[in-house]
Amino acid sequence: MDIVVFDNVTKIFGKSKVIKALDNASFRIPSKVVAGLLGPNGSGKTTSFKLIMGFLKPNSGKISVFGKDPWIDEYSVRRRIGYLPEKPVYPYVSVYKFLKHIGKMQGVDIREVERIIRLVGLEEYKFFNIRGLSRGYLQRLGLAQALIGDPELLLLDEPTANLDPLSRKQILDLIKDLKKELGITIIIATHILPELQEVADYVVYINKGRIIEAGKLEDLTHKYFVHTYYYVETSDPRKLASRIIMEEYVRGIEVRDNGLLIKINSAYKEDLLNILTSSELSVYVKNIKHVTTELGELYEKLSRAS
Ligand SMILES: Nc1ncnc2c1ncn2[C@@H]1O[C@H](COP(=O)(O)OP(=O)(O)OP(=O)(O)O)[C@@H](O)[C@H]1O
Ligand SMILES: [Mg+2]
Repeated sequence: MDIVVFDNVTKIFGKSKVIKALDNASFRIPSKVVAGLLGPNGSGKTTSFKLIMGFLKPNSGKISVFGKDPWIDEYSVRRRIGYLPEKPVYPYVSVYKFLKHIGKMQGVDIREVERIIRLVGLEEYKFFNIRGLSRGYLQRLGLAQALIGDPELLLLDEPTANLDPLSRKQILDLIKDLKKELGITIIIATHILPELQEVADYVVYINKGRIIEAGKLEDLTHKYFVHTYYYVETSDPRKLASRIIMEEYVRGIEVRDNGLLIKINSAYKEDLLNILTSSELSVYVKNIKHVTTELGELYEKLSRAS
């Protein structure tokens, strides 16, 4: 089932100067995926979240969340969503007091609140005043707040904005854990595509309020001929290189230490892996590592397509 469906949705702001934040936008988010809502600044990501939450009413078109219209059934829809806003506002109390309060409002047992504090790694800061939290820990607090009440859908608006690389990685790892542990639907709004690489399996690309592409991340990388890299450890890199170079989807080979860095058209991953694991291969392959997909390249191609 699709959890979120936008059907020709238009949202207009302003009277004298009209801004179409969403322009006939149609997309759907299937259940239990981690989806990236991807697009440059001002493309309509936050507006889409506010429409999903029922904070805004579309000018035209139809929105369905859990099969309901969020503008009409706002409370029953919101109850099932955990929302990390782009610019959260917190009271200046302790982390614990704040989260206990959220728990109380949601009718959640205090043990559940404690569990979420552990889950997001805020135990040490439990009795800290929120005012004293660093940005990375504020984001964790935002995630904790969103997770209380057992949501079926998580909306995370720029969850890694303004974080240093380490905190960014920690937050992304945390989202990855949530995906594994909770098996819920997560939508992450971001303008940074590589961030989605490890967590997302579905992407909606939006630009100037229009949906340019929506689908499985893998299908999009295929469609746009995005490249991907494998690092292969082997007993004889040169010999392996001479075998692999014959394949037309191979875009580059480099001998590095005891292995080969192979750049291929990502649509042909399976073909490469079949060769590398074939019993007829005359060199010993110790290890195969998928290094990266050039998501920056996908982003560039999507921006050009729009
Ligand atoms: N309340 C509002 N009043 C007027 N214009 C608005 C309002 N909210 C959003 N907009 C405009 O709608 C457009 C889409 O904004 P939105 O916040 O959804 O973009 P976004 O993709 O979240 O951008 P960012 O990456 O900068 O967060 C922008 O042009 C923005 O200025
Ligand atoms: Mg935004």
